[in-house]
Amino acid sequence: MKNKDTLFATPMETSPFEFNAQVADVFDNMIQRSVPGYNFLLDVIAVLGQRYGVEHSQCYDLGCSLGTTSLRLRQNLPASCHVIGVDNSAAMVSRCRHNMARDHSQASYEICQQDIQNTHIENASIVILNFTLQFIDDDERQSILNKIYAGIRPGGVLLLAEKVCFDTPGQQQLQTDLYHDFKRLQGYSDLEVAQKRAALENVLVPNTLEQHHKRLLGAGFKQIEVCMQCFNFAALLAFK
Ligand SMILES: C[S@@+](CC[C@H](N)C(=O)[O-])C[C@H]1O[C@@H](n2cnc3c(N)ncnc32)[C@H](O)[C@@H]1O
Repeated sequence: MKNKDTLFATPMETSPFEFNAQVADVFDNMIQRSVPGYNFLLDVIAVLGQRYGVEHSQCYDLGCSLGTTSLRLRQNLPASCHVIGVDNSAAMVSRCRHNMARDHSQASYEICQQDIQNTHIENASIVILNFTLQFIDDDERQSILNKIYAGIRPGGVLLLAEKVCFDTPGQQQLQTDLYHDFKRLQGYSDLEVAQKRAALENVLVPNTLEQHHKRLLGAGFKQIEVCMQCFNFAALLAFK
């Protein structure tokens, strides 16, 4: 079994969540048990690779963490494609490079340690933002989407997956309660749920689905489809 996430299992002082070595060591287990629909999104990425991966184009995985999504993309692309995984966490990038090197798919790849705000996007048939935009300053999100739109080829696609929030307090409470039930079902204790939530406060800042829709339209995307929603987690496909 992958290293089990017990990072928040004992009482601790709250400090802001970071993608450091301790998190990287358990991240596979953490994301599987914390993001409802995560495995479905890996299948969506495979489908996107097969359908939209254009010969001699580039495919970006922005906030690639351990490379789970980059790998799934690479395994489903034409051999002439090039995958670019980007993450600003050194701990994630070193483990990601190791994981990618063990795969022998034909599409070439590079893993860059970089802030995605500085990533130049060009000749892209597919861009993946899988639970990354939520960690970027709210004021910077539109310009990142604008840049992605500019670098995507006509007919290309962006997958934007995020934790989302809701306009009405009743809906927000219900979705949060259901999500916390999901986490307890995955074996997290009430203490783990509470301490992780406190650590993510002001670090992971969700938007509503409507805000995401508006931003994507503002960037220029012509067609936007919801491809997954599980409680307060959702994914959109945006087509150029
Ligand atoms: C929730 S994880 C993404 C999970 C990954 N996409 C997957 O599906 O397995 C968010 C990742 O984004 C990275 N990240 C956060 N802010 C970033 C930024 N400004 N530039 C680059 N990477 C960033 C973090 O280091 C972390 O690895």
